[in-house]
Amino acid sequence: MNDEKWVATELMHTVPAQSPTGPVSIPYLRAAGTSLVLDARGTGVPVIVHWGGDLGDLDSAMLHAVADASVPAISPSSIDVPLRLTLLPTLAEGWSGRPGISGFRPGQSGAAALDLRLIEVRVGGVPTAGPASSGTQTVAIFLTDAAAQMAVRTDLELSVEGVLRLRHTLTNTSTDPAASSFELGSLDVILPVPDRAGELLDFTGLWTHERRPQRTTLGHGVWSRESRHGRPGHDDSYLMVAGTLGFGFRSGEAWATHLAWSGDKRAWAEKSALGYSALGSGELLAPGELSVASGASHTTPWTVAVYSDAGLDGLSARLHPWIRTWSTITAPRPVVLNTWEAVYFDHDLPTLARLADAAAVVGVERFVLDDGWFTGRSDDRRALGDWFVDPVTWPSGLHPLIEHVHAAGMDFGLWVEPEMVSLDSDVARAHPDWVLGGMADDLAGADGAGAGAASPALTWRFQHVLDLGNPETFDWVFARLTALLTEYPIAYLKWDHNRDLLAGSAHRQTAALYRLIDAVRAAHPGIEIESCASGGARIDLGILERVDRVWTSDTNDPLERQQIQRYTSVLVPPEYLGGHLGAATAHTTGRTSELSFRLATALFGSAGIEWDLTQANEAELVQIAEWISRYKQLRPLLHSGVVVRADPSDLAIQLHGVVSPDQNSALFTQVALAAPRAALPERMRFHGLAPERRYRVAPLVLGAPPRTIQDAAPAWLVEPDAYGGAAGDGVGAGGAVTLTGAVLALVGLPAPLLAPEQAALFTVYSVD
Ligand code: DGJ
Repeated sequence: MNDEKWVATELMHTVPAQSPTGPVSIPYLRAAGTSLVLDARGTGVPVIVHWGGDLGDLDSAMLHAVADASVPAISPSSIDVPLRLTLLPTLAEGWSGRPGISGFRPGQSGAAALDLRLIEVRVGGVPTAGPASSGTQTVAIFLTDAAAQMAVRTDLELSVEGVLRLRHTLTNTSTDPAASSFELGSLDVILPVPDRAGELLDFTGLWTHERRPQRTTLGHGVWSRESRHGRPGHDDSYLMVAGTLGFGFRSGEAWATHLAWSGDKRAWAEKSALGYSALGSGELLAPGELSVASGASHTTPWTVAVYSDAGLDGLSARLHPWIRTWSTITAPRPVVLNTWEAVYFDHDLPTLARLADAAAVVGVERFVLDDGWFTGRSDDRRALGDWFVDPVTWPSGLHPLIEHVHAAGMDFGLWVEPEMVSLDSDVARAHPDWVLGGMADDLAGADGAGAGAASPALTWRFQHVLDLGNPETFDWVFARLTALLTEYPIAYLKWDHNRDLLAGSAHRQTAALYRLIDAVRAAHPGIEIESCASGGARIDLGILERVDRVWTSDTNDPLERQQIQRYTSVLVPPEYLGGHLGAATAHTTGRTSELSFRLATALFGSAGIEWDLTQANEAELVQIAEWISRYKQLRPLLHSGVVVRADPSDLAIQLHGVVSPDQNSALFTQVALAAPRAALPERMRFHGLAPERRYRVAPLVLGAPPRTIQDAAPAWLVEPDAYGGAAGDGVGAGGAVTLTGAVLALVGLPAPLLAPEQAALFTVYSVD
């Protein structure tokens, strides 16, 4: 949150437009196949004339012509000037759709009717704080309403990767401290999309089933997704995508927005009978939640917006490289063993030391001690907030375990849930007033502190939330984390968050959370953090600026994971997406899967294990060790490449992969989620390769070969490579083929007939 303060009077003296050509009235931004034309002529709020495909080189005369030619007709029974959808549309402009800004000043009747005037356009300034790759083009728009004593600065930035981001800063320009504050209702980014973007895709979900896609056709009205969880939630809309009819992973135009914020938010698409369609997003504020005092400012979170003319993969192809320019990840993603589904709360040194030994033998690089290590934490009903190592289980602290882990060649990670508190905890007993929403009277402190909450927040997983906006609470949590990180050589925190807030201000709590993570990282440089929220309930670009991994979902069931990872990776690059090899029978679904399917699924992310390896048999351990060694080899490709997902004609059969940025190599997987609709599934088409180059495709077997239902494998999987290459590892038989990238993408290869819940892997290497 940038609290940068500025007032309109100062603006009149700021540097003039920094473009080499002087003040620019029609800023034109272009990068990676995306163009944005902004009509900032006159004194009205500027209008986005175009956000979409690249328009090529346009000189000033042509830009004026484009802007002039975009002025629409005046329709009957309407305002008497052409209606424009501006950057901050309001009723005052004749826009009766969702406004860009709403609020009021107490004591004044009615909502504030702002009449914002453009006073300056600044092109080419230094990108604002926060993630911005070099080469980012910027525009800052300054608007003011002198009578209302309000001003707005809108920042637009287009990265070299073609990612656009926008945010507003609202300033109450009154200089009279006694003057009333501005009670902000909403301050949103609204972006026009063309009429042809009539099909919507966004996401919903629930615990262990995150990122379920849902599609709808946009009729007149608003399709709005709202999160009031105090975290994005399992049902987070995630990305709001408007596209041309039938847009898929590889085809169609798509316009997408995402709010880089980890608290309450809303994202919507609106098609107005007035003739405009738009995507909107912003923080969802409760009445009275955000008050902007005289002379103060409020800056919204960034709305990240991406255009693609090549479907969802085209969105990822811009988002992933952009995120990688500012990612906090600096080292290869280590293979993790997380203790949760291995031992749950049953911690003891001999058991965990045996688990660590088994992990080290197969090649694990990081051992993460999950929930259960702190005083009295014998189940999920108690002790959150008491971040002291349990003296009974750990009479010598965590030192013996960490030393054991280090001696076995791994680093050590620890689970924490810093924002939470159990009622049955020393900290809640000592500081009931730190509990967000208060506590029931009978649980309040002896001095009555914390009592009297008319309706205390409900417990959730038997726990409450600590009010991090209270400086005392914040300092205490920070002190406990810092004490742990100082006493123990901890490389990594798994930072969990297992409930909705249901009380207090989500804005204040989210801003405080960001400050807390920032403070921990500043005090302990090098610490890595994984964001977890009952699995994937807090995965967004606000948290991603601050963490090195996200726990994608609490399910380790590969069948569920295939879908969750497929869609989560549209926005977030695979190296962030924690994916674990679980037990044969998944704890969350009771479904049993073969090892090869579990291995192939967990390979395409930040891989790890969450299984009691001491129970695995020799053959399984050998296969796991081989998988880890392959993962380490493939990791540079998997974590820097371009994610490719074929559009399936049969939803039961899916193909996805990662192609290296230089198109030299790739790894693909053909996945059978269920039985195919036809005896012969469609050909596997390998996209993303250089059309004219020749590639050798060969199966890669990890664990056992996938089970098939074929009497004989496709010829290319049996015959030796016509170009003389050695036979592959074989999906049943062995074989390889060398073909051009164009042939592999357009003609494709016959697929092996996989049994349901099987995955086949294919390596692809350029031979030119
Ligand atoms: C929820 C997480 O998502 C799990 O992975 C595990 O860490 C538990 N919390 C521990 O309570």
